[in-house]
Amino acid sequence: MTNSDQSGSAGGSTSHQNIPLRPLIVFGTRPEAIKLCPLILECQRRPSQVSPIICSTGQHREMLDQVLGYFSIVPDMDLGLMKPGQTLSGLTSACLQAVDQVIVDQKPDCMVVQGDTTTVMTSAMAAFYHRIPIVHVEAGLRTGDLSAPWPEEFNRRVAGIVTQLHCAPTEKSADALRREHVQDSQIRVTGNTVIDALLHTVEQERADDSKWRAKYPAATGDSVVLITGHRRENFGDGLANTCDAIADLAKSHPDTQFIYPVHLNPNVKGPVHDRLGNLPNIHLVPPADYPEFVWLMDRAKVVLTDSGGVQEEAPSLGCAVLVTREKTERPEAVEAGLAELVGTNRELIVQKVSEALAARRADDQSIASNPYGDGLASKRIVDWMLETWR
Ligand code: UD1
Ligand code: UDP
Repeated sequence: MTNSDQSGSAGGSTSHQNIPLRPLIVFGTRPEAIKLCPLILECQRRPSQVSPIICSTGQHREMLDQVLGYFSIVPDMDLGLMKPGQTLSGLTSACLQAVDQVIVDQKPDCMVVQGDTTTVMTSAMAAFYHRIPIVHVEAGLRTGDLSAPWPEEFNRRVAGIVTQLHCAPTEKSADALRREHVQDSQIRVTGNTVIDALLHTVEQERADDSKWRAKYPAATGDSVVLITGHRRENFGDGLANTCDAIADLAKSHPDTQFIYPVHLNPNVKGPVHDRLGNLPNIHLVPPADYPEFVWLMDRAKVVLTDSGGVQEEAPSLGCAVLVTREKTERPEAVEAGLAELVGTNRELIVQKVSEALAARRADDQSIASNPYGDGLASKRIVDWMLETWR
């Protein structure tokens, strides 16, 4: 069976046109929720056409719940899978079995997954085993290297093999899918739903400026560096070098405030607190709620990150974006001169952050056009699902 066979068997019939489509929308981590909430809201605006079944695997807990609370989304089911210090294999097997059972119970018309996490890979596999067609949001991002990002490049490719509707955020990601012989009819450039979420959020958080200033006094000055990091391929030396570079920078730039919402993965939290806990201008804080993180990006002069989502959002907000990776599956911002790869070399990070701090921040408050999307991705994706299956 090819993936086009599966698409054909699932859709195109007019006999269902008066019955709302029942997509099973599955997510498990913070970024998936941020990027799928706008799509769920878009479905909820069309109740006569779409009746989504919303399933959280609970791969993440606190970091996921923050996002759902902000968007007022309550999952129909929460599989509660997160375990402290979970392993990739343990999570993979638990997620595959649990999502399989949801499919058996719910009998959805199709499944929607987003991105490249273990939740995405296993949910796509479970749907494939039940011959349920898959909509992959944020399809086609590739470095071509299975070790970076690890294991996400693998996860995204596995999901891609069994997907019927590939929602590519950019022309580049669509081209990557064409090179893998995905049929043109199964690819659409939709934009990335992360920009839908960002546009939903940024003006509101600007209006709440005084609230966030009171919460983050360190972020009120003109020289703020915002930091995130959690990639598995950076665990160990990469993370240690990055922390050492941040400590060097904090000492050489005493008037700059370094704000670091630390990811809850114990492989991140432990080393970061051990290495950076004692400098007065480094502020280690818990993961920020999504709206306040958007406000922090909007305040920052420099964003130092290995995050996928932050690479996509930050270019809209006028900050310099320095990416602590050797390779990125999101090359568009780098090619547009809006971001730079700095890897995890201590000296290079110090040099690049110092240069960015010395440069002028764009003071234009308008939201810059963004290579990853225009705010309409969710609408395009729901339209395409309805065209295909209703
Ligand atoms: C996961 C994804 C990664 C994604 C990232 C987004 C996989 C393999 N990795 O990485 O692709 O970029 O999420 O942040 O799918 N934890 C908590 N509370 C939380 C979340 C995590 O305590 O709300 C801790 C737990 O100890 C958990 C550990 O972090 O076991 C790791 O979580 P996991 O989802 O396996 O990996 P992440 O590093 O978060
Ligand atoms: N984010 C957040 N709070 C934080 C750090 C990040 O809400 O403290 C948001 C950020 O705006 C982006 C998403 O989380 O939308 C990125 O998630 P993460 O970096 O965990 O995963 P990735 O995108 O690398 O898969």
